[in-house]
Amino acid sequence: KIRAVVRGVGHYLPERIVKNAEFEATLDTTDDWIRARTGIEQRHFAAEGETTSQLAIKAAQAALIDAGMTADQIDAIVVATSTPDLTFPSVATMVQAGLGSTNGFAYDIQAVCAGFVFALTNANGLIVSGQAERVLVIGAETFSRIMDWEDRGTCVLFGDGAGALILEAANGSGTNKDRGVLSTDLHSDGRYRELLYVDGGVSSNGKAGQLRMQGNAVFKHAVQKLAETAHTALGKIGMSGEDVNWIVPHQANLRIISATAERMQVPLERVVVTVQDHGNTSAASIPLALSVGKQRGQIKTGDIVVTEAIGGGLAWGAVVLRW
Ligand code: ACO
Repeated sequence: KIRAVVRGVGHYLPERIVKNAEFEATLDTTDDWIRARTGIEQRHFAAEGETTSQLAIKAAQAALIDAGMTADQIDAIVVATSTPDLTFPSVATMVQAGLGSTNGFAYDIQAVCAGFVFALTNANGLIVSGQAERVLVIGAETFSRIMDWEDRGTCVLFGDGAGALILEAANGSGTNKDRGVLSTDLHSDGRYRELLYVDGGVSSNGKAGQLRMQGNAVFKHAVQKLAETAHTALGKIGMSGEDVNWIVPHQANLRIISATAERMQVPLERVVVTVQDHGNTSAASIPLALSVGKQRGQIKTGDIVVTEAIGGGLAWGAVVLRW
């Protein structure tokens, strides 16, 4: 049986770091409030003129080095983003050109904060169906471009960054035994569009728009739906929380991360947490956490890793893989 096995991972964060205290000058907020309600201590913001594709290219280069591969060995690039450089072409084709490759094909996927879980599921499908052998899957965002800097309920939550993963087709024998993507579970429910959206777009008002969120309502959906989808994905392969070495959740809020882990009966020691350093980087948060988790020595070959995410749509899902 053909499986999509992880060969490399990498990330890139813009240089500029903004600590919570910086917001105290312009907003009615405090470092204490942000830490206590979200777990966030700082985030990175892209420099003026620095685009999502530029972050994505740097993350991809790091993943290629980690995999010991060159760009011409990649036959598909899938980028999850809601903040593309341009309406078109896709960020993925910009990454392809930026890596100096003319090989294969490239396209974007948009499922907001759940984007990486959707992209990973899609990339797995490309490999299992024989469409591609080596897929570069990227989550990359510049959410700082769609913030309302006067809305304290949202602008303190988000950050910019990119993470990348390389998947390769393997036949599941020898050193690859049981490795790769094992199970996926995706959902969406468009009735909830008012809970989390951007109030601009090409075919409505021609503006980039700003992020609008009913944080409390999103919070409640998140805690319930994330544990459910993770359970479902594990259940499909006869596993439960006990079998999990690492949960690598979408990094939106430490309280959501903890509550989800608790519902899955996985102790916080087995959760990769980066929200304190990155804030919510939307589709980039999971590949960023996978890369940082590997660097920290948390995620090792053979580990069962569960990724789970929810975002605008609402759209949510989970992927189980053996690293
Ligand atoms: N500083 C100080 N006070 C604040 C701030 C702030 N930065 N932001 C909000 N408040 C105030 C509110 O105005 C409110 O005041 P009020 O009671 O006088 O009206 C009070 O704090 C409580 O507000 P709540 O929204 O009820 O606070 P909550 O505990 O729910 O925390 C938060 C807010 C952090 C936004 C939380 O709801 C959350 O994390 N929600 C989920 C958000 C999320 O994960 N979004 C991403 C999904 S992924 C995607 O697709 C983008």
